[in-house]
Amino acid sequence: MKPKILAISGSLRRGSFNTAVLATLAERFAAVAEVSLFPLNDVPLYDQDLDSDAPPAAVAALRQAIGEADALIIATPEYNYGVSGVLKNALDWASRPYGRSTLVGKPVLTFTSSPAFTGGARAQAGLNETLHAIGAKPLARPQIVIGLVHEKVKDDRLADAATLSFLESGVRDLLAEVAKSAKAAA
Ligand SMILES: Cc1cc2nc3c(=O)[nH]c(=O)nc-3n(C[C@H](O)[C@H](O)[C@H](O)COP(=O)(O)O)c2cc1C
Repeated sequence: MKPKILAISGSLRRGSFNTAVLATLAERFAAVAEVSLFPLNDVPLYDQDLDSDAPPAAVAALRQAIGEADALIIATPEYNYGVSGVLKNALDWASRPYGRSTLVGKPVLTFTSSPAFTGGARAQAGLNETLHAIGAKPLARPQIVIGLVHEKVKDDRLADAATLSFLESGVRDLLAEVAKSAKAAA
């Protein structure tokens, strides 16, 4: 059985570079993993009053999709040196119920991309800290940032060989982590 990888983009933009890179990975790893994208468009703003046993439908779907995944790949733009509000909002929903979040123990590969040469590195540091706070398992490996992304995405796919190669090594590390966890659980 192929491992299930949930891909989440912190950008809702139709022409998002981050989403395009995730779509590229889904295609490139199709033979060895089932990578599916969970769009965050329908996830409402976090409201603790709505965070009950019957949360909004999109939130329940997000939590379930995370629970059913063996691992996650999360990509985000950097907005004003932090992760996008869209992504932080989704992670706040996903972090609950406290102590029973479906993200707990989940291996996560993160990357950021930006037209700036800094590639969103500052946002990624914050993203990994949030994932640690939730109890997810962001991979301990060299950070993947894609600077000048607008020059590297063509026709909605990552077209830069060197970047793709580095990114793919990250996905292979994620798949190795999934295999290790499966072996330990067997
Ligand atoms: C509100 C806002 C704030 C931004 N702040 C940053 C920033 O701090 N650092 C950066 O590298 N790019 C910044 N950008 C540019 C984004 O990296 C760029 O719009 C990127 O393409 C968004 O990602 P996407 O293509 O996946 O939608 C900002 C863009 C917006 C709209």
